[in-house]
Amino acid sequence: HLDLLDGLHAPDVKFCGALSFLNSWSYFTNLDHSEFENLTKQGPYAGTLQALNAGTTCRRYRTEAYGYDYGHHHLKIWQKMFAEDIAQRLAPDPEGAILTVPNVYSMMEMYDFELLVWGYSSWCSIFSHSEWLGFEYARDLLHFYRAGPGSEFAPTLGWLYLNATVELLVTNNATDIYFSFVHDETSHALVDASLPSTAPKALPQEVNGVNAEGTVKAEDETPLFSPILISAEVSSLLPEGYSIRPLRRTDYYQGFLDTLRVLTTVGEPSYATFLERYNFMAAVPSTYFIIVILDPSSTIVGTGGIIVERKFIHNMGLVGHIEDIAVAKNQQGKKLGLRIIQALDHIAHQVGCYKSILDCSEANEGFYVKCGFKRAGLEMAHYY
Ligand SMILES: CC(C)(COP(=O)(O)OP(=O)(O)OC[C@H]1O[C@@H](n2cnc3c(N)ncnc32)[C@H](O)[C@@H]1OP(=O)(O)O)[C@@H](O)C(=O)NCCC(=O)NCCS
Repeated sequence: HLDLLDGLHAPDVKFCGALSFLNSWSYFTNLDHSEFENLTKQGPYAGTLQALNAGTTCRRYRTEAYGYDYGHHHLKIWQKMFAEDIAQRLAPDPEGAILTVPNVYSMMEMYDFELLVWGYSSWCSIFSHSEWLGFEYARDLLHFYRAGPGSEFAPTLGWLYLNATVELLVTNNATDIYFSFVHDETSHALVDASLPSTAPKALPQEVNGVNAEGTVKAEDETPLFSPILISAEVSSLLPEGYSIRPLRRTDYYQGFLDTLRVLTTVGEPSYATFLERYNFMAAVPSTYFIIVILDPSSTIVGTGGIIVERKFIHNMGLVGHIEDIAVAKNQQGKKLGLRIIQALDHIAHQVGCYKSILDCSEANEGFYVKCGFKRAGLEMAHYY
């Protein structure tokens, strides 16, 4: 961060293009590095904020290969992979200056802080969606291996913070206590201390970031659409241990296509072919909403989708088309089909559809009637 700040602050640097907003920035630090993190020396809260100091931690955590530096090691590998292209893209801006990979990462971290303080950040539009995903994955790697389930030292670290918190509560006379977990590292470790994991686990997406099909893994776990659209009420009505969520790329390996086989022929598409179709859907905003239900062993046992059609009629109305509802044979009769329809109904309502329609066989009419649909000419419809 300080390296980036030095570069940005240099008097002869003038930015153009995407980074030109930096020309009007005000710098409130005199770059006195030792004081850089002390934000409380001036202003109305000077001297009143107190950082939680956990004290000295286990020596092995600092010295061993799998200790503190291991997360950083993984971060550096991934940073290089996702941020080198960005550094090149932004390189002519400022003219002649060369941005380093850590510079790019620091810029992306600034976004977090600005968003927290102002609710807006100019950095939002500098980076693309997939670049932000790369950044988030880099942070995940760092914290997973430094203080999360990827580190055997995480609970030890967490206990230091828990003890320091207790100490603060017992000995401090302050009436107002405000906890701010600035570093994910701290919060991860606290969770690990409270729910100790057994052995360090490997992150499912390995650090080289590329799987056998040559696809970037950071994106593989990204949901097809925002999970916020999944009804909490419907989730709560599922049988114990079952969950519902948007489709992900990796669902290819979780039984997604097998579940669809109860509906009709699916064929044997390769992962690459599946990805091609998935990526097409993911690239069309707010149109494809495919959900899956997983059983307690995380196998997909139910799925359904709604495609949102944009019309000129009905004041530019939106119509939801419900498609490909399927529940695995051995899971039918547990109201999973009903939950899928309820969840899709909720999505349709949330995104602004005025109705949802579907086609079905005579044999399934009773099911859709139970779900609140009614025969409307040759289609079933549900008006909101
Ligand atoms: C149709 C299907 C999705 C239903 O899923 P399900 O999880 O077994 O159904 P649910 O347990 O949620 O059933 C909800 C209600 O509908 C009823 N129901 C289910 N299937 C029915 C049918 N074919 N006809 C009449 N009622 C039916 C259930 O008895 C239940 O009624 P209840 O609330 O009175 O107990 C599932 O059987 C399936 O995947 N079938 C094969 C694929 C298919 O035909 N998909 C539909 C394409 S249009």
